[in-house]
Amino acid sequence: MSRYIPLVGACTALLALSACELGEKITQQTGYRGAGLAQVYDPDNYGTPEDLPPPPYALPPEGGPLATETYENVQVLTDMNTEQFNHLMAAITQWVSPDEGCAYCHNPADMADDSVYTKDVARRMLQMTRALNGEWASHTGETGVTCYTCHRGEPVPANVWAYTPQGNAMSIRGQRRGQNAPNPNVGYSSLPSDIFASYFEGDPSVVRVASSSAYPSAGHRISTMDAENSYAVMMHLSQALGVNCTYCHNSQSFQSWTQSSAQRNTAWYGIRMVRDTNEQYITPLAPIFPANRKGPLGDPLKVNCLTCHQGQAKPLGGQSMRQDYPYLHPPGVIPTELPTGENLISEILERPRQLTGESGAPNVP
Ligand code: HEC
Ligand code: HEC
Ligand code: HEC
Ligand code: HEC
Repeated sequence: MSRYIPLVGACTALLALSACELGEKITQQTGYRGAGLAQVYDPDNYGTPEDLPPPPYALPPEGGPLATETYENVQVLTDMNTEQFNHLMAAITQWVSPDEGCAYCHNPADMADDSVYTKDVARRMLQMTRALNGEWASHTGETGVTCYTCHRGEPVPANVWAYTPQGNAMSIRGQRRGQNAPNPNVGYSSLPSDIFASYFEGDPSVVRVASSSAYPSAGHRISTMDAENSYAVMMHLSQALGVNCTYCHNSQSFQSWTQSSAQRNTAWYGIRMVRDTNEQYITPLAPIFPANRKGPLGDPLKVNCLTCHQGQAKPLGGQSMRQDYPYLHPPGVIPTELPTGENLISEILERPRQLTGESGAPNVP
């Protein structure tokens, strides 16, 4: 019997080793041979249709009376027929308040009543979601978003931010902004962690910190603090997407757009989209939210890259819910067949790495 023990031990060791190999990675060469320019993709970063909650029931057909004709107090969804309106009500209940049900937003005695604050919030969120799919298609693409992209079955999304006292307070050591206190916001680096207020709302701080010349030029006035903040927000971007810096940049030149990937272009729009979402939709809801739904300084809980992405290069692994809820997209846009699962990964690998030539690049100096 005892002679089997080493065998068992060896097998266990082998098993442990092979477990490391299970998460197989795909490498794509992105530069000239021998230059070592390659991108490593983790298939686990891309999802399968099973990641999505199934629709409450099949999408009802177009036509029939409008919701505005059937109900008393429909202010936002004025373009929807009654059956599709009901379908959406069932879906948002699944996405936002599955445990609490319709009563999370409604006074059950009178569905037209607006006395529950969450109903007012949801009205604005409906407009926001349509804007994310329409105005911001430069970022959300064909995939698009639903309430579920952020909410995932919870009334308050898991990944949100608010102003913090340490971000605003000036101490005797100056404005430390969470520096040297390892924080998940910036991948536990010693960079300042209180960065969201600087980049994702209001008058943004500069992200572009690299000088365009070898020597300091008169026009280039960037402080060490600016550079640290810029790197800190880059840590957030990378972590939120579960990728490395080279998903977007060529490390030969972090600033060059022509050497960057198409994904950096998408990210550029993403930064503007996040700002717009917070400024136009969430911050103005401050008077409506109760105190327990706000940060320590009284501002509502806001969005960053992690709110949607949650560690994946495309939220929900790139699986789209568009076919089942076309009405969350601006009218007139016909959903096409979208890549899923294996096809999604090959679509990503086939995408040209350098789309950001003169025409595709965001309007940058
Ligand atoms: C997350 C919040 C939320 C949940 C949950 C929710 N609703 Fe609504 N509901 C709204 C909003 C917002 C409106 C108003 C839409 C508008 O103004 O365009 C509305 C309007 C309605 C109306 C129209 C009432 C009228 O006379 O004006 C009905 C009916 C309705 N919902 C039914 C339901 C049902 C049934 C459920 C549960 C399956 C449900 N809702 C769950 C937010 C919600
Ligand atoms: C881009 C991310 C995002 C999307 C998409 C989104 N929400 Fe929200 N939602 C938030 C954030 C962030 C909060 C938290 C604000 C706070 O609590 O201060 C929130 C809060 C809410 C609340 C208030 C919950 C409470 O308990 O106070 C409701 C209701 C709501 N959302 C409904 C919706 C509906 C319905 C949709 C889809 C039509 C939707 N949301 C889409 C980010 C999102
Ligand atoms: C998801 C894409 C993405 C990832 C990942 C990413 N960046 Fe960036 N990076 C950008 C974008 C977009 C900008 C320009 C932002 C703007 O102009 O608002 C930028 C700007 C920069 C700049 C400023 C360049 C200049 O012109 O001065 C530096 C430096 C930088 N990134 C470094 C990094 C580092 C280091 C990492 C990894 C920790 C990283 N980035 C990860 C997209 C990304
Ligand atoms: C409202 C939800 C939402 C937020 C917030 C968001 N994204 Fe996205 N992002 C998406 C969706 C949806 C896609 C998929 C687009 C597609 O399929 O073309 C995407 C795609 C991307 C891609 C392309 C990935 C690829 O492999 O092609 C990058 C890069 C990206 N986002 C960066 C960011 C950055 C950086 C931020 C924060 C500044 C951010 N996103 C915030 C929804 C969001």
